[in-house]
Amino acid sequence: MPTKIEKDSVTGHETTGHEWDGIRELNTPLPKWWVYVYIATVIWGIGMFVLYPAIPLGSWVTPGILGYSSRADAIAGVKEMAALHTTQMQEIGQKSFAEIEKNHDLMEVALTAGRITFANNCQPCHGPNGEGRVGYPALDTDVWRWGGSIEAIQQTITDGIRSNDPDARNSQMPNFGGDKLLTPDQINQVADYVISLYGKAKPNAATDAGAKLFADNCAPCHGAKGEGSREVGAPPLASHVHLYGDSREVVVAQITHPRMGVMPNWNKRLSPAMIKAVALYVHSLGGGE
Ligand code: HEC
Ligand code: HEC
Repeated sequence: MPTKIEKDSVTGHETTGHEWDGIRELNTPLPKWWVYVYIATVIWGIGMFVLYPAIPLGSWVTPGILGYSSRADAIAGVKEMAALHTTQMQEIGQKSFAEIEKNHDLMEVALTAGRITFANNCQPCHGPNGEGRVGYPALDTDVWRWGGSIEAIQQTITDGIRSNDPDARNSQMPNFGGDKLLTPDQINQVADYVISLYGKAKPNAATDAGAKLFADNCAPCHGAKGEGSREVGAPPLASHVHLYGDSREVVVAQITHPRMGVMPNWNKRLSPAMIKAVALYVHSLGGGE
């Protein structure tokens, strides 16, 4: 039914002419600000369309007159990061450990590079977080066989332990069983004494004979009280940290046939700067000697 268009007396707006049960629909105009914003966004959209890549056409897109490409942008960003990384690794190679530690940004780069290199190269032997495995020492304790200063760690990583490198850290625990330096009885006695050093021996198992055997045969490397010696990489025996385990069988086996773990030298595989970064990372795991 045609209705006539009239003005609403309250708002002054025109009505659309639609009416339901006496309720009339107003023809309220769009607010001015909204119309301007709308026109501005349309102009903005056309502008972007002309300037930037817009319509995808299979393997090609309309390129836009600025010639922008997000791929080129990303490649440039990666190149920039790589250049930054190279200069920072060069700095790590040139600076002393003390200088690197004072430089927050450089230290962050070193620890990140060290962590990644550790995961790629060291983790199979020393465990994901340097917690060690049987035969492979934990690097997150403050018990060190060769030394826990950054410089000592750097040297261990560079030249290795019993590796092929001429500068490798080297020492041999005598083969007390295989070379018949001690009888099986004597080995049992000295083993009981060793176990008593970390409080796991049965009462009265540690005898004077065992103590004397230890003083004569073991103390020159492991120290009079089993405190260990870094000169020969002899681990502390009076300790709760053990390379091979703390059971009696393990101690007897080690005295009978020492295993002599090998740690590879990394100077052929990692750059000196990268070795410094790993040394800083390993140092950050332990007691921080
Ligand atoms: C093939 C196994 C193996 C790999 C890989 C390996 N290590 Fe070792 N590492 C050893 C063994 C075994 C020892 C203990 C040798 C010994 O003194 O009897 C050792 C000892 C060490 C020590 C001396 C700990 C101390 O108490 O003084 C440090 C530090 C160390 N490794 C760091 C590293 C780092 C860093 C990497 C990676 C770049 C690495 N290792 C890779 C086997 C390995
Ligand atoms: C010439 C030095 C030397 C002498 C002497 C020596 N040791 Fe050792 N000992 C070492 C070294 C080096 C290691 C580490 C070896 C390895 O990685 O297998 C070691 C390791 C050990 C371990 C393993 C420690 C662990 O953390 O699991 C035990 C136990 C031990 N020695 C007991 C003895 C006893 C007992 C004697 C004397 C009967 C003795 N050693 C004499 C150098 C020595």
